Amino acid sequence: MAIFTINDVRKKFTNGEVVEEILKGIDLSLQQGEITALVGASGSGKSTLLTIAAGLQPASDGQIMFNGNNMTDMDQEQIRKVRASEFGFVFQSAHLVPFLTVEEQLILMLEVSESKLKKEQQKKEIAHILKLIDMEHRKNAYPASLSGGERQRVAIARAIIHKPKILFADEPTASLDSKRSKDVMELIRNLTKTLNITTLMVTHDEEMLAYADHIITMKDGLIK
Ligand SMILES: Nc1ncnc2c1ncn2[C@@H]1O[C@H](COP(=O)(O)OP(=O)(O)O)[C@@H](O)[C@H]1O
Ligand SMILES: [Mg+2]
Repeated sequence: MAIFTINDVRKKFTNGEVVEEILKGIDLSLQQGEITALVGASGSGKSTLLTIAAGLQPASDGQIMFNGNNMTDMDQEQIRKVRASEFGFVFQSAHLVPFLTVEEQLILMLEVSESKLKKEQQKKEIAHILKLIDMEHRKNAYPASLSGGERQRVAIARAIIHKPKILFADEPTASLDSKRSKDVMELIRNLTKTLNITTLMVTHDEEMLAYADHIITMKDGLIK
C-alpha cells in the first residue's frame, strides 16, 4: 500500500535573473514498511526532493499526499504538526545536543513531538529503544564520549522514538566507515520492519543499496 505519494513535483530556484528548475516533475510512491533508496550523482536533486517530501521546504508545483492528506494544501502550522508527530529525520551527522545525555536527547524528542506520554510510559519507551539500538549501557553518556557510529545510532533512536510513520534519512552513513555504515543500515532496516515505518533514504554508497526494498535513481532533476 502506498502511504506517501509525490505527483509531478517541481522545484525552481531563482538566482538573480536566472530561474533554474532543479526538480522537473517527480513522481514517486512509498510503500508502507519498506525502504526506498534515492541515488544519483551529486547535484541531481536528491536532498531537495527529500526536504520537500518531508515538508521542510515547499514545492513550486505538484502534489504530495500523505496518509490520504494533501500536504500541499496545508498551512505552515499543519505541516509543522505532521512533521513533529508523523515524521522522523536523520542526517549525515548526528546533530545531538552536546549538553544532554543519550537518555535526555530522547526525552527531549518526546516532548518536542507532543507525544503526551506520561513520565512512566516515556521511561518505558526509551528503555525499549535503547535496547533496540544496543545502547542501554550508554544511556547516561554525553555525545562527546560516544563514537561516530554510536552517535548515529542515537540520532536514529531520536528520529523514531515518537513512532513516526515516515523516516527521512539523507546520507545517514556518509560520516561512517564501512563496518559502522553496515551496522547503522542494519539498524534502520530492522527498525523499519519491526515498527512498520516507511523509509525514504538518500545514499551515495552502493553497498547500502542491499538494505533497500526499492532503488530510485535521479538524474538532473528527474527520475531515470
Ligand atoms: N536553496 C537553493 N537555492 C538555489 N539552488 C539550490 C538550492 N538548494 C539546492 N540548489 C541546487 O539544486 C541542485 C540540487 O541540489 P541537491 O538537491 O542538494 O542535490 P543532491 O542532494 O542530489 O546532491 C544543486 O545544483 C544545488 O546547487
Ligand atoms: Mg544531498
